[in-house]
Amino acid sequence: MFQLYQTSAYLRHQKGKFITNFSHSFIRILFVNKMISLKNKVSVITGGCSGIGKAIATKFAAAGSQVHILDKNVDNALFLVNEIADTGGKVEIHQCDVSIQKDVIKVMQKISVLHPIDILVNNAGIAHVGNLENTSEENMDLLYSVNIKGVYNCMYAAIGEIVKNGGGVILNMASVASSIGISDRFAYSMTKGAVLTMTYSVAKDYVDKGIRCNCISPARIHTPFVEGFIKKNYPGKEKEMFEALSATQPIGRMGEPEEVASLALFLCSDEASFITGTDYPLDGGFLKLHG
Ligand SMILES: NC(=O)c1ccc[n+]([C@@H]2O[C@H](COP(=O)([O-])OP(=O)(O)OC[C@H]3O[C@@H](n4cnc5c(N)ncnc54)[C@H](O)[C@@H]3O)[C@@H](O)[C@H]2O)c1
Repeated sequence: MFQLYQTSAYLRHQKGKFITNFSHSFIRILFVNKMISLKNKVSVITGGCSGIGKAIATKFAAAGSQVHILDKNVDNALFLVNEIADTGGKVEIHQCDVSIQKDVIKVMQKISVLHPIDILVNNAGIAHVGNLENTSEENMDLLYSVNIKGVYNCMYAAIGEIVKNGGGVILNMASVASSIGISDRFAYSMTKGAVLTMTYSVAKDYVDKGIRCNCISPARIHTPFVEGFIKKNYPGKEKEMFEALSATQPIGRMGEPEEVASLALFLCSDEASFITGTDYPLDGGFLKLHG
């Protein structure tokens, strides 16, 4: 059902390497902690093996959080565990499809027994290109099951634990497509609109239980998600499309996953203790500077 990859197991095999890297890692962690700390916080990040989720997991671990990643595709799990361990961070990777509720519940329970959850980042998501007429029922069901039901499943499975723990933070990955019309994103926009409204709903219902719930709405961020999208939909025209997509953002380039991770770190930290029920566009001017 799900497999676990964890830093401690890796470290047992790589003790010498860890010691070699220790002083460098220690200095780096001290530096990061000086800015924003997630020390003693346990984070669960979905889709953390790639792109934006990977950048968030790496940044949170560097800020002192014990990180748990839930991802369907764990091909690069050992490499990522290695990378995070090299900076002194702590991560466990659980293979889990967020669209399957019983699996999500099982893995969340397993995590909470050892580490009460403070932070949940619902980042896992898939893309789809098509208008109403070329979106099949199968496309619609798949997008719904991952992008909407996956977010619901994780919040449903974790919220009781977070409340029991005295409160915490939920951060959802929405999109600029949540709130404006973007061509050929019928199913995708539907799902991201739902992520935005689920965020408002949870923020409202749990504000008195010490839970802050916000979302980030990125425009185009340069990740494997975007690379895969270009390759699949514009074969042979990858370079032109990359440039064209970059040019659609007033700032003239795509965002970097680390830029999303920086905002995620702030929103999930105590520095953002007065912020809940808010959507944060992170878009190089895409929403407001097209006049
Ligand atoms: N990259 C962008 O331009 C962009 C823009 C706006 C919003 N977003 C959103 O940001 C999030 C991350 O995007 P990314 O660009 O880093 O994508 P990515 O494809 O690089 O990473 C997505 C991760 O989610 C995992 N995943 C997919 N389906 C899953 C499932 N059913 N269960 C568990 N894990 C699953 C994948 O294995 C992968 O590791 C997505 O929700 C996406 O919609 C991305």
